[in-house]
Amino acid sequence: MEKYIINGGNKLSGETSVLGAKNSVLPILAATVIGNNRSTILNIPNLRDVEIMEHILLSLGCIVERIGNTIMVDSRPLNSIVIPEDLVREMRSSIILMGAMLSRVKEVVITYPGGCEIGPRPIDLHLKALRHMGAEIEESYGQLYCKTNGLKGADIQLDYPSVGATENIILAAVTASGITVIRNAAREPEIIDLQNYLNKLGARVSGAGTSVITIEGVKEFKDVTHTIIPDRIVAGTLMVASAITGGDIILKNVIVDHLLSIIAKLRETGTLIYANENTIKVSGPKKLNSIEMLQTLPYPGFPTDMQAQLMALLSVANGTSIICETVFENRYKHAEELTRMGANIKIFGRVAVVKGVKELTGAKVTAKDLRGGAALTLAGLVSRGTTEVSQIFHIERGYENFHTILQNLGANIVKTN
Ligand code: EPZ
Repeated sequence: MEKYIINGGNKLSGETSVLGAKNSVLPILAATVIGNNRSTILNIPNLRDVEIMEHILLSLGCIVERIGNTIMVDSRPLNSIVIPEDLVREMRSSIILMGAMLSRVKEVVITYPGGCEIGPRPIDLHLKALRHMGAEIEESYGQLYCKTNGLKGADIQLDYPSVGATENIILAAVTASGITVIRNAAREPEIIDLQNYLNKLGARVSGAGTSVITIEGVKEFKDVTHTIIPDRIVAGTLMVASAITGGDIILKNVIVDHLLSIIAKLRETGTLIYANENTIKVSGPKKLNSIEMLQTLPYPGFPTDMQAQLMALLSVANGTSIICETVFENRYKHAEELTRMGANIKIFGRVAVVKGVKELTGAKVTAKDLRGGAALTLAGLVSRGTTEVSQIFHIERGYENFHTILQNLGANIVKTN
């Protein structure tokens, strides 16, 4: 199994550009099945999760061509309603294909995605909303059999601003008869990107980025070309890499507006950040300050996908920080690995108490999930001695060329078998 070998102590410097957002590509690739059309999507990162979505589209009969960071999907020859079970098990977010398939062919068979490393990941909000729109969904033997005579627009109040549920409902509503209104919708930037793609396709979606999203059903679609927004979590992760090493890096091709909560929290640690529209300069301080309270929340609150990276940073800050993970039930698996590197972290349910230590020491650690693995890598950059991060396949689901980008910024990191 591949791993990263990191020799800590180098300050990062230089500049790098941020690629397209994984959590924007996936719903947009799912959405390509809706229209009887061709979609050309640009600025797509090379990630396992994107590959899985490509395989799913191919298994449904679509034509999928990838050239560099561009994918062309022709969904006209779609000829199947079954989403391959092994691919759903590998990537649970493929559940948003339910809405897209119900929109296109009014039927889909998909396995229950189940939980993953960070929690049980229920889909009750997805199913409740789709049933409310007229989908008949039977759950048996771990499969979801879904069909409809035609979805109807509905007024849906989400119990929780779930990103996936919001996306699934939008995709289902695109061809539903009448108007669908989603209240307490998720406000993540990736949902605005999905809205922009769909409206180019010929859909009528408005309100993305706010808590109320309105979709008017349509029947006609056209070919579309769309460029994916930059990945705000990759950008945030690299910002932490600069802060934790006392480095000085410039990130290009970012959308500063999507990073405001991350910028605010990093500034609390004494990190210097200069930002203009698409570029951000991050200079780490000699000594990091602790943060009184870091609470993860739905956007525009501090992102749960950045919690692990901040925990690594706060492990070497001056003083004690409190972290409260309010979004997922079980997203502290990286804490025990950081403790192996000398961190002083105590977990009380959803609360983590991080007492900064003078320095971390290299150790053999294991990535348990995508962002936790990235956090261990960041910790290795600043640890005395050598850190070995194993199971890096988790990390490479969400970060293209992670070790190469860090190497180019001056980190002593290699990938080995
Ligand atoms: C998306 O997951 C992202 N994944 C996650 O990123 C991200 O952490 C999460 O949103 C929150 O921002 C993609 O976009 C592919 P949710 P999703 O539905 O849609 C509960 C990463 O690292 N919930 O907003 O699954 C759920 O259990 C990944 O890139 C229900 O209870 O997140 C969780 O506690 C990790 N019932 C909370 O809502 C439901 O029907 C937030 O989940 C749905 C969700």
